[in-house]
Amino acid sequence: MSPQKPTILVTGGAGYIGSHTVLALKKAGYNVVVLDNLVYGHRDLVESVLQTELVVGDTNDRGLLDEVFRTRDISAVMHFSAYAYVGESVSDPAKYYRNNVIGTITLLEAMLAANVNKFVFSSTCATYGVPVVVPIPEDHPQNPINPYGASKLMVERILTDFDTAYGLKSVRFRYFNAAGADPNGLLGEDHNPETHIIPLVLQTALGKRDSVSIFGTDYDTPDGTCVRDYIHVSDLADAHVLGLEYLLRDSPSAVFNLGNGNGFSVKQVIETAQRVTGKPIAVKTCDRRPGDPPALIGSGEKARQILGWEPKYPNLDDIISHAWKWHQRRHGEG
Ligand SMILES: NC(=O)c1ccc[n+]([C@@H]2O[C@H](COP(=O)([O-])OP(=O)(O)OC[C@H]3O[C@@H](n4cnc5c(N)ncnc54)[C@H](O)[C@@H]3O)[C@@H](O)[C@H]2O)c1
Repeated sequence: MSPQKPTILVTGGAGYIGSHTVLALKKAGYNVVVLDNLVYGHRDLVESVLQTELVVGDTNDRGLLDEVFRTRDISAVMHFSAYAYVGESVSDPAKYYRNNVIGTITLLEAMLAANVNKFVFSSTCATYGVPVVVPIPEDHPQNPINPYGASKLMVERILTDFDTAYGLKSVRFRYFNAAGADPNGLLGEDHNPETHIIPLVLQTALGKRDSVSIFGTDYDTPDGTCVRDYIHVSDLADAHVLGLEYLLRDSPSAVFNLGNGNGFSVKQVIETAQRVTGKPIAVKTCDRRPGDPPALIGSGEKARQILGWEPKYPNLDDIISHAWKWHQRRHGEG
């Protein structure tokens, strides 16, 4: 009989990337406990689809965290919970620093009190700000241009200092644009409000929106629209299992980009969605949005080399067809 695998606490496990990672952890044989306050998460995905224990609660609730660590034998924490709307972070930065920074410190202190010292953190390419080289390597300067990116960079700094002072080991993943859905259609993206381009395009294909807006068609890119790096959410989830196993082998703290290394333009996304769905997608051309760089592409080389990560679904057709399968089921008529 193989020995029982450790128990992992997954904050934000009822959200988009967290739920796909819970699925990957369970497939790899781990025990999982999800902590989510359900502000944006979905109870049904954790309890019915993933059949996983859900603690409904907040990372700012130290008493609850102490109770969770005291009553379970947790070996590591994967921390997905955060607020992630860039525009809202500009208009209400206090909300972002309180949840993303103070909530994380509360969680880290509860971990230390319970002698848990392995932490996998959802950081973001938004910590880089406007890129000076593309594809962006991990040692690119970090100059975030909004409070959301700044809140994630603060946590990165806190993790460095907590390693030095308390020996807390972390893997920080800086994701580019998470996209797609579980290839078997079990899980997918269900943000409300939705701001990500692929679900917006698919909602338009489903007739739930009149049109999709293209912000800027005069960028210095091959077709004039912004280029972004879309990384399949199941590939992200696999990287998290590899990152966890890296820490469980007592490796030093590390930071990895999780990107495709390939960019796709907004026009390419819309054309691919039209082909995959077989539906017309109406487009509205708008002015550029302030702060949108022409191209954001991440080098995933380090994660490939050190973690042995190999994205299974790097092409846009797969990403969009998996997302389409999910959107039809979750948001379609039948
Ligand atoms: N989606 C992307 O493309 C992307 C890119 C880069 C980084 N990220 C980061 O990845 C993580 C997950 O993103 P997502 O798209 O899955 O978001 P999501 O909103 O779907 O998931 C976040 C989950 O955290 C929960 N939550 C929020 N605050 C909480 C708190 N204080 N206590 C307990 N639960 C709380 C929400 O209810 C939600 O279920 C976030 O930290 C985000 O900043 C996402």
